[in-house]
Amino acid sequence: MSKLRVVIANVCRLLLALTFILSGYVKAIDPLGTQYKITDYLAAIDLAAMVPQWTTLSAAVALAAIEFALGVFLLFAIKRQFTSRLTLAFMAVMTLITVWIYIADPVKDCGCFGDAFTLTNGETLLKNILLVLCAAVVAWRPSDMVRLISSSNQWLVMNYAVVYIIGTSLWCLYTLPTFDFRPYHIGVNIKQDMTVPEGAPQTEYETTFIMKKNGVTKEFTADNYPDSTWQFVDARTVVTKQGYEPPIHDFIIDSATTGEDITDSILSRPGYTFLLVAPSLARADDSNFGDIDQIYEYAQEHGAAFYCLTASTDKNIARWRDITGAEYPFCLSDETTLKTIIRSNPGLLLLKKGTIIGKWSHNLLPQTDELNAPLHQLSIGQMPQQSSTSSRILKVMLTFLLPLFLLSLADRLWAWSKWVRSKQKENNIFQIFKSKKKMRKKIVAGNWKMNLNLQDGVALAKEINEALVAEKPNCDVVICTPFIHLASVAQVLDSTVVGLGAENCADKEKGAYTGEVSAEMVKSTGAQYVILGHSERRQYYGETAEILKEKVDLALAHGLKVIFCCGETLEEREAEKQNEVVKAELAGSVFHLDAEAWKNIIIAYEPIWAIGTGKTATSDQAEEMLAYIRSIVAEKYGQEAAEDTSILYGGSCKASNAPELFSKPNIDGGLIGGASLKCADFKGIIDAWKK
Ligand code: 13P
Repeated sequence: MSKLRVVIANVCRLLLALTFILSGYVKAIDPLGTQYKITDYLAAIDLAAMVPQWTTLSAAVALAAIEFALGVFLLFAIKRQFTSRLTLAFMAVMTLITVWIYIADPVKDCGCFGDAFTLTNGETLLKNILLVLCAAVVAWRPSDMVRLISSSNQWLVMNYAVVYIIGTSLWCLYTLPTFDFRPYHIGVNIKQDMTVPEGAPQTEYETTFIMKKNGVTKEFTADNYPDSTWQFVDARTVVTKQGYEPPIHDFIIDSATTGEDITDSILSRPGYTFLLVAPSLARADDSNFGDIDQIYEYAQEHGAAFYCLTASTDKNIARWRDITGAEYPFCLSDETTLKTIIRSNPGLLLLKKGTIIGKWSHNLLPQTDELNAPLHQLSIGQMPQQSSTSSRILKVMLTFLLPLFLLSLADRLWAWSKWVRSKQKENNIFQIFKSKKKMRKKIVAGNWKMNLNLQDGVALAKEINEALVAEKPNCDVVICTPFIHLASVAQVLDSTVVGLGAENCADKEKGAYTGEVSAEMVKSTGAQYVILGHSERRQYYGETAEILKEKVDLALAHGLKVIFCCGETLEEREAEKQNEVVKAELAGSVFHLDAEAWKNIIIAYEPIWAIGTGKTATSDQAEEMLAYIRSIVAEKYGQEAAEDTSILYGGSCKASNAPELFSKPNIDGGLIGGASLKCADFKGIIDAWKK
């Protein structure tokens, strides 16, 4: 059922679309014809004189554009809801108008299809009832209309259709209608088309006579016409049978000077005749009078006749003569006939033995350089090679469809290139994102261990601070000192340039733990970091995973960032157990943290065999292990958190090998022992981030 509904809706939509496109197009190519028709309607309601011409002409162009655009929108199923509702509203109004013209009969032809097809008022009403029903079906469920163009391309078709049809109207106003559907088109022999062929059916009339006798009124026909005792009152004649009417039946030319009918002499003239057709000289465009005068001179020179046909008064003819210096003869004809002959006021016709061989708008008259020989030697003096109607229709369709196709293609290419660009941008953003990940904190942290007394420590801290304040590092710098240094060192450091950390903290919150320093105490010195899990603490002070877990929790609870160390012994590496060992260390002490707490963890991978031995892990070994650590962090906290985690390498790291180590994508800096005890050495490592 729903399939049938969709089929019906689309049949209705196509019927409407094609009707609208056709009616819009034929109106657009003949805006003056449409204007005349609108004026006829206005005249029927006595408004013609009140409405200025430019209004009716604009209305003609607008009407054509609306119909054509609606047709195209329906055809492509563009803006389906809007289009279907507008179509229904439009058809409802049109149907009401046709009901009126059917009843009141103010015009003989509705003008729906210009001069291309003429319908009787009854036919028009039937057509509109059918179309309004179709419009109702389509408007009922607009989404049933199958789209012929993607919504992203709709704007293109919409704008193009409107620009095309308005452009067509303006062009045809400037020149002449692209298709000439009127009886006076090129190739027509006027005289022949005025002739009623022998034996053609004659129009039959019936006259009714109204007669009166002794106060009695009665109707009679010619067949029962009464005797003379009846007195004639009135007569009524009606057409009972329409006979043959030749295509041209209203072409009469009278001389403006003598009043003589010269139609036959003009149409039977053996040579060439120019007819300047100006229905109304009062409203005629006089801007090209120079061209007209030259054509008249040319005609005189080459034996061609030249007449100006007009329906104007003597006064207007005289005025035209004054303005333009016209010397050509003027003839009178019916205004409607003249308007039918050519859609230009004035326009020019060239007849050859009564046959129309050329028509020009006053804007595109033949120029003097074209008129350089007798007419029979010129191309304008020959009957043009008329292309067949179908090939002209094809041409017109191509002028609409080809640019539309090319525009759509351009739009698709543009959309594609935009897509490619956006992909590139995405990649760039991804790169930036990635490099942003690479922008996770780079850190060089010193671990002084148990090396410096307070004075030396403070002096070194001062020196480092001064060096880094003078030359801002490209990474975060932290110095981790014995407990006794912390408070004093905190005083000499610019905390925005150099961070401070402890090398340890207690696994207890507070209380009777002689010799211990709690995380809170560390924090109270001004330190921000604490190293936990260093192999030396594990090895020499028996710190187990559980103890470290307590320390980690306490440090984080007191707002310290934890530099958590992990690493395997030489035996473990030789047994290729490094991954296992490191994973167990992390799992035992830090992987219990939640994602939020994890943000305060910095990992330092320090292979025990490399610490203080001068035996550095190669950059590849370090990179491999740090990549592995990042992967297990990713497993636990997700890729994003892993990308954000700073992972340092520690173990015989010095200024000479730091650049190589730090060049690895997963190495985010170093935890430095021996080389952090001298400012120059330490700075040399820090500067590795500048290379
Ligand atoms: P070295 O740099 O002296 O090898 O020490 C590394 C270390 O243990 C840092 O914590």
